[in-house]
Amino acid sequence: MAGGNFEKYKSDGSLGGNVLEWVDARFPATSMWKGHLSEYYAPKNFNFWYFFGSLALLVLVIQIVTGIFLVMHYKPDAALNAAGVPVAFASVEYIMRDVPGGWLIRYMHSTGASAFFIVVYLHMFRGLIYGSYRKPRELTWLFGVGIFLVLMGEAFFGYLLPWGQMSYWGAQVIVNLFGAIPLVGNDLSILIRGDFVVGDATLNRFFSFHVIAFPLVLIGLVAAHILALHETGSNNPDGVEIKEKKDANGIPLDGIPFHPYYTVKDIVGVVVFLMVFSAVMFFAPEGGGFFLETPNFYPADPLKTPPHIAPVWYFTPYYSILRAIVWNFFGLDAKFWGVVAMGASVVIFAALPWLDRSPVKSIRYRGPITKVMIALFVVCFFILGYLGTQSPSPMGELISQICTVFYFGFFLAMPWWSRMDKFKPVPERVTVK
Ligand code: HEM
Repeated sequence: MAGGNFEKYKSDGSLGGNVLEWVDARFPATSMWKGHLSEYYAPKNFNFWYFFGSLALLVLVIQIVTGIFLVMHYKPDAALNAAGVPVAFASVEYIMRDVPGGWLIRYMHSTGASAFFIVVYLHMFRGLIYGSYRKPRELTWLFGVGIFLVLMGEAFFGYLLPWGQMSYWGAQVIVNLFGAIPLVGNDLSILIRGDFVVGDATLNRFFSFHVIAFPLVLIGLVAAHILALHETGSNNPDGVEIKEKKDANGIPLDGIPFHPYYTVKDIVGVVVFLMVFSAVMFFAPEGGGFFLETPNFYPADPLKTPPHIAPVWYFTPYYSILRAIVWNFFGLDAKFWGVVAMGASVVIFAALPWLDRSPVKSIRYRGPITKVMIALFVVCFFILGYLGTQSPSPMGELISQICTVFYFGFFLAMPWWSRMDKFKPVPERVTVK
């Protein structure tokens, strides 16, 4: 029934056909299958960049399934056990040492967290180079930015749960940042923590957000993201709208059914991804100290601050932007402006559809200015990411300030540089190499 003739199947008198007919009279099973898979026409020129959407879905499933098993043994409790170790930390050790297969489930989940960000960053980068955020896909992009924000919250809450030194002090630093907001800041950080310092109340609410509230929102946003995409149809590496050229049956000339063509093609991406994922998970689950940080192998100790507190790698570009702001403005503290800049550096992605004024979408038909600007943006992003993992230094501060200026300049000056570029003529039909 792959691309299938459902009507014939339903009327052939077989048990399966009868069941399908019964279901279809009560639930849009066949029409959903057709609309989103067997008769969803995707451009025939997708390249490897188009693997990352389905990979993001795969990682989402991995995180939810492994998370369900972790919750069976994990205990969100900051009290000390008989051995003087916090119960939450000890429950993670118990999962690692005593629960059959527990180490595997935990490493899948911790490696999955970093993999999620790698995949999502590559997925967003694809959107950037092919102009996938532009009309008519603005809502797909906005749902994507919403997903990204929720994903960051989800990762932040999850990181506190093992109740190690970095979990504890990282949360302390980040929640304290809210204190910089004028008037309400102090009360806000107490509200978030549920206490004057990060403690048992904080651990319990972060647990609740991490296992239920944020995953629910995430799943809802992902559904909205895909529904919005299927309404407009997918973009492609040429940035050509395939719906503009249709055959007599109304089928895009450059479209092929998503199922079976891309469901099968996506398996290639899944296999390569799982090979890399397994290699990391089995041989280097700490990811060189980036995926699991050394201080987190020690239980949280409110009386002992680690010498160097840094967020996990996927937050470090924004953390660098926060640290780059060292000046007070308008009588408000540098810390406040740092928080504003950090927030703005993420939210600004939402404005992309309206900042890009170029007459063409895909980088293939855009000129040197676009290519140089995107390349510099990526370089700055990596430098900021690296500096965020390092202890503050005068040179690091200067470089992060230069990169921060470029980071915002990339977006804010886009209405100008995206128009000034040279453009190549865009073909009428997609090209397949
Ligand atoms: C949990 C995270 C996410 C999941 C599961 C997800 C899933 C998907 C899937 C399955 C597709 C269709 C296949 C593809 O084009 O690769 C897609 C397309 C797209 N996604 Fe996401 N996505 C996620 C996050 C994001 C984020 C954070 C953004 C941007 C901020 C984004 C922007 C887009 C855009 C613009 C498209 C259309 C691409 C095109 O047609 O060229 N997505 N997404």
